Amino acid sequence: MAEKAVLGFLQTNDQISDSHQFAASVGVGHTELENVIKSLKGFEIVDAQEITREKYMVNGSPEALFFSAIPPEGISRNTLKEKLGIETFDIGSKAAAKNKWIAFDKDLVKRKVESVEDEVKNLLTRINNGEVVSDQVINDLKRRKLIVKQTWKGYSLKRGPKYVSKRKKAATDLTREHIVSGDWKNQEFKEYNVNAEAPAIQVGYLHSLLEVREEIQNIFLQMGFEEMPTNNFVESSFWNFDALFQPQQHPARDSHDTFFLETADRTKDLPEDYLEKVKRVHEFGGYGSKGYGYDWKRDEAEKNLLRTHTTAVSTRMLYALAQQETFTPKRYYSIDRVFRNEAVDRTHLAEFHQIEGVICDRGLTLGDLIGVLEDFFSRLGMSKLRFKPAYNPYTEPSMEIFSYHDGLQKWVEVGNSGMFRPEMLLPMGLPEDVNVIAWGLSLERPTMILYGISNIRDLFGPKVDFNLIKNNPICRLGI
Ligand code: PHE
Repeated sequence: MAEKAVLGFLQTNDQISDSHQFAASVGVGHTELENVIKSLKGFEIVDAQEITREKYMVNGSPEALFFSAIPPEGISRNTLKEKLGIETFDIGSKAAAKNKWIAFDKDLVKRKVESVEDEVKNLLTRINNGEVVSDQVINDLKRRKLIVKQTWKGYSLKRGPKYVSKRKKAATDLTREHIVSGDWKNQEFKEYNVNAEAPAIQVGYLHSLLEVREEIQNIFLQMGFEEMPTNNFVESSFWNFDALFQPQQHPARDSHDTFFLETADRTKDLPEDYLEKVKRVHEFGGYGSKGYGYDWKRDEAEKNLLRTHTTAVSTRMLYALAQQETFTPKRYYSIDRVFRNEAVDRTHLAEFHQIEGVICDRGLTLGDLIGVLEDFFSRLGMSKLRFKPAYNPYTEPSMEIFSYHDGLQKWVEVGNSGMFRPEMLLPMGLPEDVNVIAWGLSLERPTMILYGISNIRDLFGPKVDFNLIKNNPICRLGI
């Protein structure tokens, strides 16, 4: 409707000088007309110049408003007060009485003259028509709230280079129907706007833990390690503890520390002759060891649990390696989830990811362990390391690993390591001169430090903010 009016008008007239006037004359809102103008301008059908003017809204003087609100037969004061509002009524009545335009007859207000000349309104109309008056006059009118300044935005229009009296609707796409009917020959097509912004693509993002995991995985691969299969969260106590020479009374095997399973509470499948050897080494020792000297129970070893460390997987791998005809040296790694029945706080959950490295070869020493740890951790960006003697039931010697953190300006514990005990390796059947060096650390700790996350619940679990995952920068370790 507005488009038809504009194009029709421009067919016989050179220009539309004022879009506001035009909108009023054809009876459409200016916003609607403006949209049409923008679209026509985009297709160069019209030339549109923006024009801005300053304009005063004319209210008229209170006395004139007062006068014109009085019908010839008169009106009651109260009705008039309601009609005009108290302010205009008060100011208007005084001025109109002074001008001798009106008279009060008891409760009635009546006109005393036929018509009045509203000087103020005349002045304002003249100002709006471009007459120049002094600032003082304007300010005075503003102060009396008789005028309000408005910025007026509109357009003047002329025919554009591609003017048509009636616009054909341009098609967005060439369709099968256009081709079949042949009307593509006369059809106008919208041009491609290659500068238009495309909608944001919704894609998946790697969780920060997975980003760091991939980086660490790459480090292991660069160092010649193979990945161990860690796809079983449920493990038997045998592989999680017994095979690691961890005695059955050890406090870690308490339900306060470990999650045991209620359903499928026992494993059925344990290698019998190996189990016998494990029992013997716990009870009586052997291979130069005195053992623990207690009554080892199969029932305890059969209890299923959520693995408390990925060292259970390393143990299975070493056992499998020992079953091979000829020994081959191996470097294994794994990064996966482990579970511990721990008090949950800002830095601990009941589950976390463990990173584990294992090297199995003849004649390995503690020096090899220290060397490989220095190599591994320097690739993570931690080149200042210190080692502290520690204890694990399955390693001797054992060392806690500390790294100097430049940001925190202190030594922080970054992992645990050691050489697997003969009581663990020899019952498996590994050759006597084969040693195994290994270390473990959590994936969460370095991730939190790298991404500056102080509460583990912001990193893992139901409270994680998806935007954090979406916006986190990719991880590059050691750079
Ligand atoms: N299993 C140990 C832990 O849970 C880590 C470790 C792995 C220690 C291998 C020594 C050797 O912390």
